[in-house]
Amino acid sequence: MKGVVFTQFLEFVAGRFGEDTVDDIIEACALPSGGAYTSVGTYSHEEMHALTGALAARCGLPAADLVRDFGHHLAGSFERGYPDFFRRSGSYFDFLASVEEHIHVEVRKLYPDAELPAFTVVERSAKRMVMDYRSPRRLGALAEGLLRGSARHFGVEATVLAQPQGEHAIRFIIETR
Ligand code: HEM
Repeated sequence: MKGVVFTQFLEFVAGRFGEDTVDDIIEACALPSGGAYTSVGTYSHEEMHALTGALAARCGLPAADLVRDFGHHLAGSFERGYPDFFRRSGSYFDFLASVEEHIHVEVRKLYPDAELPAFTVVERSAKRMVMDYRSPRRLGALAEGLLRGSARHFGVEATVLAQPQGEHAIRFIIETR
């Protein structure tokens, strides 16, 4: 997984729990990278699972909730860092469809070693979209947070329901008001 996701994660942890927590979870994990991430580096996604597990243990919150909240935070960082990806979409659902068709395609051009999930739009109408997520990296909670967090840019309120489909896939039912 690209370092940019890790640097954003540590920024999220520092902002919500403080710098001491960042130091503590890095220490608790004995990571192969030592926790010294650079945005263009590549690290095992297992380090992300280790860090979120250590954070969950430290604050007594479920790891999946923390990863989802991080996804929400990451949507805000992407909005600031890559405004064109948001601007080119006329609507929230156009944007979500563009993650697979355009955004992650561009991400792969930028980082040929990126490990990206696959999204399939199963159903789409004015206020409801069904999208399947598939990835061996088990980061569905991150996807859920990104789905929720990116709604804000388009001025819509979205509810996102996650239905696990086996170990490596999740069906997301997204409804807007
Ligand atoms: C401007 C918007 C976006 C940008 C620039 C972006 C970029 C990236 C990058 C750089 C990675 C890391 C790849 C790696 O680790 O090697 C990634 C992973 C990921 N992205 Fe996006 N992304 C965007 C929007 C989204 C949205 C809206 C979703 C949710 C539907 C999403 C879902 C994911 C997930 C779940 C992963 C983790 C990898 C996995 O699950 O296998 N992304 N993205």
